Amino acid sequence: MGTSPYRVVVVGLGKRGKHHAATFHANPRFELVGVCDIDSERLEAARTEYGVEASSDAQALTQAVKPDVFCFCTLPNVRLPLINIGIESGAKLIAYEKPIAVSTKEAKDIMALVRAAGVKTVVSHQHRYGQHYQKVKEIIASGDLGRVHTVYGHSTGWMMHMMTHMIDYMRWYNGNADAEWVMGQAAGKGKFADIHGSPDYMAGIIQFANGVRGYVETGAGAPDVPEVDYWWRKCRIGAQGTEGFAEVLTGGGWRAVTKKGVFSGEGCMDYDLDMPPYVDEMADWLDDDSKVHPCCGEEAFKGFEIAMGICRSVVDRGQVQLPLADGAPEMEALEQILPETPVLCTTAETAEEYLG
Ligand SMILES: NC(=O)c1ccc[n+]([C@@H]2O[C@H](COP(=O)([O-])OP(=O)(O)OC[C@H]3O[C@@H](n4cnc5c(N)ncnc54)[C@H](O)[C@@H]3O)[C@@H](O)[C@H]2O)c1
Repeated sequence: MGTSPYRVVVVGLGKRGKHHAATFHANPRFELVGVCDIDSERLEAARTEYGVEASSDAQALTQAVKPDVFCFCTLPNVRLPLINIGIESGAKLIAYEKPIAVSTKEAKDIMALVRAAGVKTVVSHQHRYGQHYQKVKEIIASGDLGRVHTVYGHSTGWMMHMMTHMIDYMRWYNGNADAEWVMGQAAGKGKFADIHGSPDYMAGIIQFANGVRGYVETGAGAPDVPEVDYWWRKCRIGAQGTEGFAEVLTGGGWRAVTKKGVFSGEGCMDYDLDMPPYVDEMADWLDDDSKVHPCCGEEAFKGFEIAMGICRSVVDRGQVQLPLADGAPEMEALEQILPETPVLCTTAETAEEYLG
């Protein structure tokens, strides 16, 4: 461990920024030294709670307090400008939220900047810290499923919210294999109006370089997970092998049939449990370059590229090879070509409808 705690600034104090600020503040390996939001009420609340420097101007704040960790938790429309501010601040690590960008071009620009500056990046695909997610990983790694041939993930939440979560955990369950090609289809234009602008439903096939096939679905046409009542946690991610399967339900534990028998267990996505180890492993990576964070930006970029490749397949048709060549912004291209026809739902289309 370093001799003094790593100094942290958190920008964007909404739902996720509050989780990050509280978790960094509670960990003695970090010192929260600044908070920032353009919303004055949120900013004042954080200033009062933590008694640290507070500003609505991320650039001025970071130049004043010189953080080691620049964390920002803004909505997906604000990424590149804050990456630049993070780099200019001299921070050694930038922690930020999924999705990493809104297009392949923006994601590539971000990666080029942070690579050139030698800045580490970590992206919040932190559901993997759940004990039920970890249990499924442990079973897959044990070999008890035989030869894994398929990984899958689906969520009722729509693409720009959920697809990189699904792909990140599918890739983790598949040894972080690279993808060779992807193919996809999409339906419904309602969610393009959302700040996480996406087709209502998106389905993708992924061919991984290690021979494993992946299936991913997000949004209104994705299968229901009736065992889970909280709409955003209706996600199922797993792996099938020659001798069984193991899968996690984000809000409903895990289950497996392996060559050793039939098993199941508890677990539910919980920020209070997932955030502390997620943040702690940032300090491990800062202490020791060889302890690369499991949610590092390079892996997040690969997952994002898969999601964007699926979008391109809808627009261009056919199989799309990875790594992706440069191309037009994916969401705009999709919005232009998708028909107005509403998506055929397998469950309620929104959390509100489901709960109502
Ligand atoms: N990893 C997860 O489990 C998880 C869960 C929910 C949301 N998210 C992601 O987290 C991100 C943020 O979501 P949220 O629900 O916290 O959003 P939010 O709207 O609650 O908070 C965003 C905050 O950023 C502030 N902001 C915007 N631009 C700013 C700027 N230039 N400088 C300073 N502050 C600025 C806003 O005023 C707002 O307070 C999204 O990308 C979302 O997809 C991740």
